[in-house]
Amino acid sequence: MTIVKWPAWPNFGEDESRAVQRVVASNQLFADREVRSFEQQFAKYVGVDFALGLGNATQGLHLALAALGVGSGDEVIVTPYSWISSASCVLMQNAIPIFCDIEIKSLGLCIADVERKISTRTKAIILVHMFGYPARVREFVALAEQYGIPLIEDASHAHGATVDGHKAGSFGRISVFSLHQRKAISVGDGGVLCTNSQPIYEHVRRLRSFGHEELSYNYRMTEFAGALGQVGLGKLDDHNAVRKMNALSLAALLDGSKYFSVRLENPSESGVYYAVLIDVISEIKNLDQKLEHLNQLGIPVRKTWGLLHLHPHFNPAKTPARGLPWLASDYDGAMREIKYANVSLPIATYCCPDRVLELYVHPPAGLREMEFAVASLNSITSD
Ligand SMILES: Cc1ncc(COP(=O)(O)O)c(C=O)c1O
Repeated sequence: MTIVKWPAWPNFGEDESRAVQRVVASNQLFADREVRSFEQQFAKYVGVDFALGLGNATQGLHLALAALGVGSGDEVIVTPYSWISSASCVLMQNAIPIFCDIEIKSLGLCIADVERKISTRTKAIILVHMFGYPARVREFVALAEQYGIPLIEDASHAHGATVDGHKAGSFGRISVFSLHQRKAISVGDGGVLCTNSQPIYEHVRRLRSFGHEELSYNYRMTEFAGALGQVGLGKLDDHNAVRKMNALSLAALLDGSKYFSVRLENPSESGVYYAVLIDVISEIKNLDQKLEHLNQLGIPVRKTWGLLHLHPHFNPAKTPARGLPWLASDYDGAMREIKYANVSLPIATYCCPDRVLELYVHPPAGLREMEFAVASLNSITSD
C-alpha cells in the first residue's frame, strides 16, 4: 500500500498572511473594525440579526447562559456526547447540568429523554450538532416553545450546515460557534455568539467587555481573529464541498464493508462533515492498537469521544472551592440524590466511544487520501 501524506489543518497561505499583515500594519489589535466586519458577515451568512465575536466558544456558552439569567438552583439540559464546554458552561453559572441520552440516528440529544427530564427548574436546553451532523433542531424548537424554555444551539462543529435550507445556528434563541484552530473556520482561538434578539445581543455585548452594571467579563475577540475569520468565512462553502465529497467517497468505498458503515446525513439536512463518523458494525479485535497504527501512518482517525457525565467535573474527588451546585441548599431536584456517573444513558453508552470512529477529511484531502484511509481501515480487519 502506498503511503499518502495526510494534509494538515489549517493550511494557511497568502490570503491569511495578508489578513494578519493588515492587522499588524494598522497597530490596532484590540477588537475594532476587523471584528465588526467579521461579525456582520457572519450574521449574514448564518441568517441571524446579530453576531458577536468572542475569545472562544466556551465563553459563548457561558455568556449564553448568563444572558438568559440561568443561575443557582436552575437546571440546564445537556448532552453527554460533546466537548466538555457544552456541559461545564452550566457549572460556570453555578447551575445544575441534566444529562439526557442521545439518539442513535444523529447522535444528538434524544427528544423523548429530554422531555422526560424537563422540570420546573429547567432554564435552558443546549443542543449540539456533533461533527456537523445536524441534530433534530426543528423538533427541539417546537419542544422549547411548548415548555417556554430557551434553546441554545452549540454549532461549534456545524459552520454552514443546513436543515430545510436554514443554517445551523439560526434556530436557537442563541447559538454559539467555535473558531478554534481545528474548526472549519480556524483563527487559533475564537468564538461567535448569534441571536435574533436585540435585548440578548445588547446584554451579551455588555457581558463580554467589562460592563459596569453587572459582573462582566473580558471575553473579546482580537483583530487578528476577526481578520482571519473573514478569510475563513469566504472559503467555508468551498471547503465544506470538499469535506462532503470526501464523505461521499468514503461511503462509496466502504459500501458493503462488514466492519464499517459511513454516516451520511438525512435528505432534508446538509451536514458539513467537520469529521466523518464511521460506525463500527462488527467487532474488531485490538481496535485501539490498530487505530494507533493508522495514526502512525498519519491518518487522523480515532474512536469518538468519551461521555461527559463520567468526567471528574461532575464526579469530583473533592469539593471544589465554588462548591457543588447540586448540593447547594437552594436545590432540591433529582441530581441531589443521583451521582452523575450513575445516570443511565444507554444509547450514549452503547455508541461512545467504542462503536463510532471519527475521521478528519479537511481540504485539500481528496480521493487519494480517502482511498488510502479505506485501504488502511480494511487492512486492520483482515486478520
Ligand atoms: C461541540 C463543542 N462545543 C464547544 C467547544 C468549545 O470551543 P472553544 O475551544 O472555542 O472554546 C468545542 C471545542 O472543541 C466543541 O467541540
